[in-house]
Amino acid sequence: MNDPNLDGVAIQFRDVSFRPVDNREILRDLNLEIRRGETLVLLGRSGSGKTTTLKLINRLLDPTEGTVLVDGRPTTAWDVSRLRRMIGYVIQEVGLFPHFTVERNIALVPRIENWPTERIQKRVHELLQLVGLDAQLLSRYPRELSGGQRQRVGVARALAADPPFLLMDEPFGALDPITRTELQREFLSLQERLQKTVVFVTHDMREALSLGTRIALLEAGRLVTVDAPDQFLNSTNPLVVAYVDAFRTDVRTSHHRGTS
Ligand SMILES: Nc1ncnc2c1ncn2[C@@H]1O[C@H](COP(=O)(O)OP(=O)(O)OP(=O)(O)O)[C@@H](O)[C@H]1O
Ligand SMILES: [Mg+2]
Repeated sequence: MNDPNLDGVAIQFRDVSFRPVDNREILRDLNLEIRRGETLVLLGRSGSGKTTTLKLINRLLDPTEGTVLVDGRPTTAWDVSRLRRMIGYVIQEVGLFPHFTVERNIALVPRIENWPTERIQKRVHELLQLVGLDAQLLSRYPRELSGGQRQRVGVARALAADPPFLLMDEPFGALDPITRTELQREFLSLQERLQKTVVFVTHDMREALSLGTRIALLEAGRLVTVDAPDQFLNSTNPLVVAYVDAFRTDVRTSHHRGTS
């Protein structure tokens, strides 16, 4: 792998706070650099601010204070549609359009960008291969798919126009552990080939450890630490230790459940 220190910064949070109208602080003084080509995992409990952090990158939200830079330019200075075209987004709960077939869902962005029909069709088939979906599914509607198939369609759609950035918000949540592991494996091999800058949200430690080049732990809107998986596991920060311990306990109990 390349030395990540030489790869440059792709996304940067500078002193970012986010307070919606009621003035509750959702994110506080976030400083974080995401390097080109890395998979930064945002880990944290429910409500810690993970989705909010993603939305500040593709400008579904603007910071109340501070700046988010994408390719060195503040998100507020980007033309919004140009910015979003560079950033594939797999939203929490997938968010496919229910009245569109799988094919139209995947081809959403290429169609918006007026690609010629042939190019779109070719791309759709490439994507199916990439995420491991059968071409038979193209004419189906999202409700006619399993949860795992829907999640793959969501990933294919985010990759469709080959954006250099990818925001993935619990893309494999609510899947059985075997399908989840399978999709994680596919993600890793995809990422090896595509080398996108990825921000990946999860509250699953195991997923964070296997997919992340680095892990950022959020707790109640504050960044606790950013570390490589090994360092993260051995951190002495009490909040990290609490998270890691909870995960170890969970592994032990499920092991006992499995063998009893
Ligand atoms: N636009 C908003 N206005 C007010 N409060 C918001 C807004 N968006 C999010 N929140 C609140 O901010 C906090 C963080 O929300 P966020 O969706 O970022 O959490 P999360 O870490 O993604 O959680 P989960 O793991 O449950 O998806 C929550 O308490 C949420 O209720
Ligand atoms: Mg969320």
